[in-house]
Parts: sequence; structure tokens; C-alpha cells
Amino acid sequence: MKTIIAYYSYSGHTKKLAVELAAKESADIQEIVEENRPDRLKAYTGGILDVMREKSWAIKPLPIAWNEYDQIILMSPVWAGNPPPPVRAFIDTLPSGKTVSVTMVAASGKAGCREKMEALINGKGSSMKEFKVVKA
Ligand SMILES: Cc1cc2nc3c(=O)[nH]c(=O)nc-3n(C[C@H](O)[C@H](O)[C@H](O)COP(=O)(O)O)c2cc1C
Repeated sequence: MKTIIAYYSYSGHTKKLAVELAAKESADIQEIVEENRPDRLKAYTGGILDVMREKSWAIKPLPIAWNEYDQIILMSPVWAGNPPPPVRAFIDTLPSGKTVSVTMVAASGKAGCREKMEALINGKGSSMKEFKVVKA
């Protein structure tokens, strides 16, 4: 079974966990990168507003050969209890028929967005297999 870990990371915590997991599981890894990276002030102001408005941010094209993968692990920081806008954009690129395991990384160790993530993934015709939240 071939796995790809796709992750977004603003300040590096999720990246570290994703890189460690990819090495442990011998999985492929792909970073989700926004086209316009906000500075910290913008992330905490406009970023949070966009989370609340359920907006996506444009991301750089992803060179993922989806049909090579049986399993997708999506790793994301929590922004205002939710997925950050680039992660919404990533989910929008998902093909149908995939199984996605989600790990959210939060300073608090909490994220109240399980149902939202599941609905977004289901909306693409894929399914969420697992949802967990880890403390950064
Ligand atoms: C804009 C913004 C909003 C955040 N909102 C939350 C939050 O609601 N709850 C939480 O536990 N952590 C929150 N955090 C903290 C991050 O989720 C946490 O530091 C995470 O580990 C960052 O991952 P990263 O370093 O991969 O970007 C927020 C961080 C940012 C930048």
C-alpha cells in the first residue's frame, strides 16, 4: 500500500511531524504551499477572518500522481479551531475514491473541526478514515 503525506505548515511544527512520519512509514511527502505567504500579522488577522469565512487561498500546483496512492495522510495546523485556507484549497484538489487520514496540529491539542473536515473530504467523493489532533 502506497501512502502520501500532504502537509501544510506555517511555522514548522507540522512540517517536522510530517517529515518524521514519512521517514518512519517510508511514505512519499508533499508540502502544500500557498501562492502568497502572509506575514505573521496577516496570518493572525486576515488569515483568521478567511478561516471564519471558509475561504481557500491559492496554492502552488501539486505534482501528485494520485492514482499511485492508496492512502493519503493530510497533516495541518489548526487555525481558529479549523483548517487554514491553503488546506481547504488542497482538499479541493482531491480526486474521488481516496481514503484520507487527517492529523491536525494544535497548540491547545484541540480542534473542533472533525465534522467539517469529513464533510469537505466527502464532498470530493473521498472518505475520511481517521481524524486525530496532536499537541504541537
Ligand atoms: C493564524 C493562527 C491561528 C491559530 N489558531 C489556533 C487555534 O485555534 N487553536 C490552537 O490550538 N492553535 C492555534 N494556532 C497555533 C497552531 O495551530 C500551532 O502552533 C501549530 O502547531 C502550528 O503549526 P505549524 O508550525 O506547522 O504552522 C494558530 C496559529 C496561527 C498562525
